[in-house]
Amino acid sequence: MVSAIFPAAGQGKRMQAGLNKVFLELMGESILLRTLRQFSVVPAVKELVVVTGKDEVAVVRRRLSRVPGLKPLKVVAGGTERQYSIWNGLRQSAPEADVVLVHDAARPLVTRETIEAVIAAAREHGAAIAAVPEKNTVKIVADGIVTATPDRSMLWSVQTPQGFHRDLLIAANEQAERDGFLGTDDASLVEHYGTPVHVVMDSYRNIKITTPEDLIIAEALLRHEHGGIRDSLRKAAKKAAEHLAGNR
Ligand code: CTP
Ligand code: MG
Repeated sequence: MVSAIFPAAGQGKRMQAGLNKVFLELMGESILLRTLRQFSVVPAVKELVVVTGKDEVAVVRRRLSRVPGLKPLKVVAGGTERQYSIWNGLRQSAPEADVVLVHDAARPLVTRETIEAVIAAAREHGAAIAAVPEKNTVKIVADGIVTATPDRSMLWSVQTPQGFHRDLLIAANEQAERDGFLGTDDASLVEHYGTPVHVVMDSYRNIKITTPEDLIIAEALLRHEHGGIRDSLRKAAKKAAEHLAGNR
């Protein structure tokens, strides 16, 4: 069985909404609930572990318990860093889970295809992450001066879900705790201790809602569900071709 852990214990500082951004509504439903629904339609996922701020646990538990159609759910308190929040959630996940997924509650646009692909790769290899090829040129900067330009063809932007054999992720977290190591994502703990992490091609749709602009982008993407993006592209290409033909 698969247990999915959702870090939702942040403060949403960059969103500047004055509250935890995962409670903001996106076309009538909270970001958190949209995320949980995406995982609830995946048959392999048997448990949802939501990690919220200490003061939010009771209200989130009460509200979510009334929602029909969600997989069995635990709500637990997080920590001051995302890594500590996940470690708390992981300890409370079902011991029968062979694979655990970690997914940002702030990524409600994740698809069933991505979730299932990460589960399959994690099961086979032990560790797998959803990612997309980087679109921008990325520079290393120190004191306002560029010091290097890494080869873009090797750069990937890492998203979630990230999936692991449960015992592997527990061992990596125990080791990180002993060493005082703080990674920027879950896979970095596993990498730090030498386990290869496999990359699963994700979709550019699966954005993390971080700043106010992302709410607008997410709404637009939701409106374009069901093949709408291809339609928009076709229309834009047709118009451009007409303009070009007219200018000749
Ligand atoms: N998160 C968490 N525990 C923390 C910090 C973050 O569970 N101590 C969660 C957030 O709730 C979010 C996910 O990790 O779903 C990704 O983090 P991020 O986008 O940085 O969210 P926030 O930390 O809430 O936002 P900010 O950094 O702007 O304050
Ligand atoms: Mg943060």
